[in-house]
Amino acid sequence: MRIAMIGTGYVGLVSGVCFSDFGHDVICVDKAEAKIQMLQDGKVPIYEPGLDVLMAKNVAAGRLSFTTDLANAVKGADAVFIAVGTPTRRGDGHADLTYVMAAAEEIAHAMDGYTVVVTKSTVPVGTNRKVQEVVAAANPKADFDVASNPEFLREGAAIDDFMRPDRVVVGVENDRAAEVMAEIYRPLYLRDFPILTTDLESAEMIKYAANAFLATKITFINEIAGLCERVGGDVKEVARGIGLDGRIGNKFLHAGPGYGGSCFPKDTAALARIGQEHAFPMQITETVMRVNDEVKKRMIAKIREACDDSFNGKTVAVLGVTFKPNTDDMRDAPSLTIVPALIGGGAKVRVVDPQGRSEGEALLPGVEWVEDPYAAAKDADAVVLLTEWNEFRALNLMQMAAGMKSPRMVDLRNIYSRDKVKKSGFESYVGVGR
Ligand SMILES: NC(=O)c1ccc[n+]([C@@H]2O[C@H](COP(=O)([O-])OP(=O)(O)OC[C@H]3O[C@@H](n4cnc5c(N)ncnc54)[C@H](O)[C@@H]3O)[C@@H](O)[C@H]2O)c1
Repeated sequence: MRIAMIGTGYVGLVSGVCFSDFGHDVICVDKAEAKIQMLQDGKVPIYEPGLDVLMAKNVAAGRLSFTTDLANAVKGADAVFIAVGTPTRRGDGHADLTYVMAAAEEIAHAMDGYTVVVTKSTVPVGTNRKVQEVVAAANPKADFDVASNPEFLREGAAIDDFMRPDRVVVGVENDRAAEVMAEIYRPLYLRDFPILTTDLESAEMIKYAANAFLATKITFINEIAGLCERVGGDVKEVARGIGLDGRIGNKFLHAGPGYGGSCFPKDTAALARIGQEHAFPMQITETVMRVNDEVKKRMIAKIREACDDSFNGKTVAVLGVTFKPNTDDMRDAPSLTIVPALIGGGAKVRVVDPQGRSEGEALLPGVEWVEDPYAAAKDADAVVLLTEWNEFRALNLMQMAAGMKSPRMVDLRNIYSRDKVKKSGFESYVGVGR
């Protein structure tokens, strides 16, 4: 199969690289010239474990290339994937489809021969039909079908998720498009990964429903954590106790500082907006969004309390600022709410993050970036564990406590046990829901 991948961000690049590893010929396209230049130079613009090696292997095999020339990439392609951003539209929470529609129009002008135009970006129900209209209007002679193929990969584990997915969802309208999609995903089909073929609308809805459900699950345990703090109980034990129930499952039951990242905040907002537009308010999702905002605020209060109720003149070490470990993605990370609140309250903030600095520098003005957690904690009044990078899971707590002005730990990921922290010389330990 010949594939053109439009957009080489976290999803487009990983998908393009993995499709080429399946044996397909893939051309990845992006408008961002600097990004394409880096890729042509063999460098990966994002941090995603294993991506550099897999990319190099497939470039060397001659199956993978990068270009800014969309028209050339689309010519002769069996399938063109749209994997551009669908951020929250300013002002109303709706998914901004400008990039998707612009890409569709460009594709339409370049297509020659039968092509399946596949939307991989997360888009509201009805978008694939709009893509169909846009392509047909731009090129009335075009021989094409549309397909919806939402992506479920998680940043930080993206390659494994793509290569060993829980399921692949493909929304199509006819057998011709279904056959092309089946051919593209054949290597997964042969290994018995479930491929779910649906109509366009169901495929689109599956993606929003999945993300809203997961955001709800996280928010539910975060709310239980808040109640545990009032009435007693350790949310880690509670999560284990309910997660062992097969109907509930143990994933996404880790209490923490609230969900963030490139998908959940914008996708819950978009789903809520779709509900409002259709006079069918998505009450659960709307509540989840509100509770998640409150969770982040509660974290700020927790840290303030650990700093004797005032940030003014305090030094706080923040370990981890990316929205989760193993990515450099800072989009909607809880740190973007929490760190400015510390600085606004008069604290000096030192930040350490294995990959977050290049993105984070512009987003977190006024912080001091340091290279290791012990340097961050030196003479500090409190250390806040915000992102659970492996690097922070086995700290030498004695060494850290010994270097601090007042050794206090706020562990927003419940990595450590209170006993261990206190035995290591910390005056106090605060977790979430314990
Ligand atoms: N990031 C994730 O973990 C994830 C997971 C599942 C689904 N998604 C969805 O996938 C989509 C892409 O997300 P992302 O995180 O990869 O976005 P991203 O912002 O990292 O990348 C999008 C890329 O598209 C490029 N682009 C925009 N318009 C273009 C055009 N007309 N031609 C060529 N390139 C163009 C941009 O320059 C950018 O590099 C979104 O809809 C998102 O919701 C993301």
